[in-house]
Amino acid sequence: MKKTPVISDVKGYWELEANRIPWFEPWNSVLEWNEPFAKWFAGGTLNASYACLDVHMGTERENKVAIHWEGEDGETIPFTYAQLYHEVNRFASALKKNGMRKSDRVVLYLPMIPQALIAMLACARLGAIHSVVFSAFGSSALADRIRDAKARFVITADFGKRQGKLIPIKNVVDIALEGDVFVEHVFVIKRTNESIVLHEKRDLLFQNILEAADDYVAPEPVDATHPLFILYTSGTTGKPKGIVHSTGGYLTYINSVFNKAFNPQEDSVYWCTADVGWITGHSFVTYAPLMNGTTSVVYEGGPTYPTIDRWWQLIEKYKISIFYTSPTALRMFMRHGTETIKKHDLSSLRVLGSVGEVINPEVWSWYHEHIGGGRCPIIDTWWQTETGGFMLSPSAQNLVDLKPGSATFALPGIDVDIVDAYGISVPANTKGYLVIKQPWPGMLIGVYGDPERYRQVYWSKFSGMYYPGDFAIKDDDGYFWLLGRSDEALNVAGHLLGTAEIESAAVAAFSVAEAAVVGVPDDIKGQAVVLFVTLRKGVEPDGETKREIVASIRHLMGPIAKPRDIYFVDSLPKTRSGKIMRRILKAIACGEEIGDVSTLENEASVEEVRQVHVAMKKSF
Ligand code: PRX
Repeated sequence: MKKTPVISDVKGYWELEANRIPWFEPWNSVLEWNEPFAKWFAGGTLNASYACLDVHMGTERENKVAIHWEGEDGETIPFTYAQLYHEVNRFASALKKNGMRKSDRVVLYLPMIPQALIAMLACARLGAIHSVVFSAFGSSALADRIRDAKARFVITADFGKRQGKLIPIKNVVDIALEGDVFVEHVFVIKRTNESIVLHEKRDLLFQNILEAADDYVAPEPVDATHPLFILYTSGTTGKPKGIVHSTGGYLTYINSVFNKAFNPQEDSVYWCTADVGWITGHSFVTYAPLMNGTTSVVYEGGPTYPTIDRWWQLIEKYKISIFYTSPTALRMFMRHGTETIKKHDLSSLRVLGSVGEVINPEVWSWYHEHIGGGRCPIIDTWWQTETGGFMLSPSAQNLVDLKPGSATFALPGIDVDIVDAYGISVPANTKGYLVIKQPWPGMLIGVYGDPERYRQVYWSKFSGMYYPGDFAIKDDDGYFWLLGRSDEALNVAGHLLGTAEIESAAVAAFSVAEAAVVGVPDDIKGQAVVLFVTLRKGVEPDGETKREIVASIRHLMGPIAKPRDIYFVDSLPKTRSGKIMRRILKAIACGEEIGDVSTLENEASVEEVRQVHVAMKKSF
């Protein structure tokens, strides 16, 4: 049986991979490892925008399409590499003339318009650190991230477009910035003729400041360890964590694994359906494909609007050869049957990718047969915001035998294992904690402003090992099978959501006294949010109260966090030290057996929660 090759000289291997991207100055050492802090390629200098754009100028790629952008309504804008280079330079110049400097933090709150990628690359050109916030997040989620990053600037647009509706995102920025004193400018990209409120001095219309922009800005050389971006990911406690990625190690890594996993060719057309607001959109919509000189499709709309076959139209139209999406989307399409798929010529497809959650064997087989026509390998990529790029994944360059539902093996240079609660490797077919035993270039360099949290969350559970928070199992052939999160984080439609953030959005509703959130299995989204609440005295547990709670969550966190079910209870099961026992709530919500409750403060509440749940289930 074919396996991924084992690399004996790991540092030498990463040095070779680093040489595939352009550097201004060479590094002093491949890795300085002072656990848990890694410095990859320190002393080497480079620039991410240069690596994505300038390198292609004067080559045959100059006039090759970098991005085919398409909007929901069919509007299309192609950008060649030369055009993208021009746009990024002008964007960077406008930002620079308005005060942006190296190391400034810049929050991007943008829909999937070309300017989202352009703004990321423009910040990178100046050495500024972007922090993209998913544009469907609500005002409180946005405000927390702006504050935590101590952002000097925000870049946004007047509206997003989704399912034929205009989404007023500038308005969300205004609410998020109420009382803020740090943000100097909000740059607003106007894409509609609708009127918006502009705050004097603070808000600048981007189109206006572009008029004075130069055509070229020299890319700022930064050290390999200079942060390229901060991207927030949800934790199980407290505020979200600002995951910081380096420039040199990160770019080396994503360039390497993109090539290994998908094996793009010069004439490939690639489409990753992720939004730039997530890590997949950073690594595999923006940076890796552009470094590779690949032609990509970037699509603003949702999968089923205006018609259920929108995605298949796009694959046919652009002759997409590499298609990368999530199991949630696939499960949704499975429900609609294959008639509309069959109407389209998908014969250009060569490689199919999957990300974000476990792809169950039925979905894998459906994807393989109905989208891939039985001829395309399914590249199931297991990774995280923190890992920067793929960790476990088959390689289309050197394909192993695939098993539906398994992410196969670790990519070359990556040392992954499964251990028990004591950090000891478990035998085959035994469930345990997935761990990574050696640093890798794409690893996060820290949690923004909180080195202790970085150490505590990722490096304290097992000595000398990185802890991602996933359960897994290895079969007799050494194939890895992911089994979901080992912490309380929710994975809804491939997106991690923290319990704490949703709970505080629920408690912000006037009626709610206490809230607890759990994730339960959902046929389409993998997991769905279920909310248990206790109400303030005198508040009725009725539909009106429910609507108020849902509105609060939508407003503060965004529609993604909207609970599927809300249960009103008199008290929540808690340990004697006051911690909510989510494990118990989850078991009740899933109709499972409840384990040990000896540490509970009030066992009666378990029975009460269960009864309410049974009663509510009947009335739904
Ligand atoms: O639980 C794993 C799941 O998503 C988590 C990472 O989420 P996030 O940082 O938001 O990044 C998502 C995009 C990379 C992981 O800890 N996950 C991601 N990919 C897979 C997966 N679970 C199973 N199979 C995958 N291919």
